[in-house]
This record gives sequence, C-alpha cells and structure tokens, in this order.
Amino acid sequence: MAIRVRSFRPDDAARIAAIVHRCLREVNSRDYPAHIIDKMCEYFTAERFIELSASRLIYVAEDTRVVGTISRDGNKVYTLFVDPDSAGRGIGRQLMAHIETLARRDGYDHMETGASITAHRFYLHLGYTDVRESETKFGLNYILRKPLRQP
Ligand SMILES: CC(C)(COP(=O)(O)OP(=O)(O)OC[C@H]1O[C@@H](n2cnc3c(N)ncnc32)[C@H](O)[C@@H]1OP(=O)(O)O)[C@@H](O)C(=O)NCCC(=O)NCCS
Repeated sequence: MAIRVRSFRPDDAARIAAIVHRCLREVNSRDYPAHIIDKMCEYFTAERFIELSASRLIYVAEDTRVVGTISRDGNKVYTLFVDPDSAGRGIGRQLMAHIETLARRDGYDHMETGASITAHRFYLHLGYTDVRESETKFGLNYILRKPLRQP
C-alpha cells in the first residue's frame, strides 16, 4: 500500500510515541548506552509530541496506520523515526523529501539535521554532508547539511 505523508493530529501522539520507543529500544540501543535510551524514552512521551506540535511542524507517514514521523522547524529536521517493522521501505526517504520540498518552497537554500549515530549513514546516503559533531543531553549527534536547489 502506498505511503501518504500528512500533518500530525493530536490523536497520533500515542502511536508516534510508541514508534519512537520501539526504535530507541530496538535500533538506537545498538549505538547508545542504556541510560541515554531511558532518558530519551522518558522525554518522548505522547504529551511531549502534543507540546512540541506548538513549536514545530510534525508530519506522519501512514498506510493502514501511522508507520513513521518527522518534524521540522524551518529548515531544521527533528525526530525522524520509522517503525522497525516498516524499515527499508523508503519511508524515511519519503519523509525527508516531504520536508525538504516544504523548506525549499519557504525559500531556504539548505537543510540541516542533527543525526543520531544510528542514522548518520542514512543522511550521508541521502546527500547530506558533515558539518560538525555535537554533544547533546541525548549523547553524540552529527550535524549535517544538504543544499536545497531552487527550481
Ligand atoms: C534512519 C531511519 C529513519 C531510516 O528509515 P527507513 O525508512 O528505514 O529508510 P529508507 O527505507 O527510506 O532508506 C532510504 C535509503 O537509505 C538507506 N539507508 C537506510 N538506513 C540506512 C543506514 N542506517 N545506513 C546507510 N543507509 C541507510 C537505504 O538503504 C535506502 O537506500 P536506497 O534508497 O538507495 O535503496 C530508520 O532506520 C530509523 O527510524 N532509525 C532509528 C531512529 C533514528 O535513529 N532516527 C533518526 C534520528 S536523527
């Protein structure tokens, strides 16, 4: 079934939090210690997504149900997570393309992301290049950028 990307609604929050927690426990836990994973799970609750939706644009990918999420604030990418059961279907790429198109339309000439160790090579594969490393409250992140060419 084709994946559709749409804007977040408050009733998506519980499902998104469940996807994020699964990713953190099953995927990101390969690259980060347990105390960081626990801290991230405590932070990314359903209520937090509702709160964040006031300051960021949140999107979800769905087929018969929500299978992934991404957020943006202008040209900055946040919280890209794809349900591990749906990984490798092009959903992460589609979510990135969606917000890159919107940022380009808003006049930005580049996109910027703070990537987990886990997602670093995914972003490199999508054409992002390293700018610097950043030590955050959730451990090491890579700051990467990609030019957005105007049509
Ligand atoms: C990183 C993540 C979002 C990728 O989502 P996905 O839907 O599985 O990725 P896609 O299927 O869209 O992959 C797109 C391309 O990137 C490649 N790719 C995906 N993950 C990759 C990785 N970890 N390393 C290198 N390449 C990767 C795919 O092979 C695919 O290549 P192709 O289009 O040339 O065939 C997903 O694995 C995830 O949620 N990870 C855990 C959470 C996380 O770390 N999120 C990022 C926080 S910054």
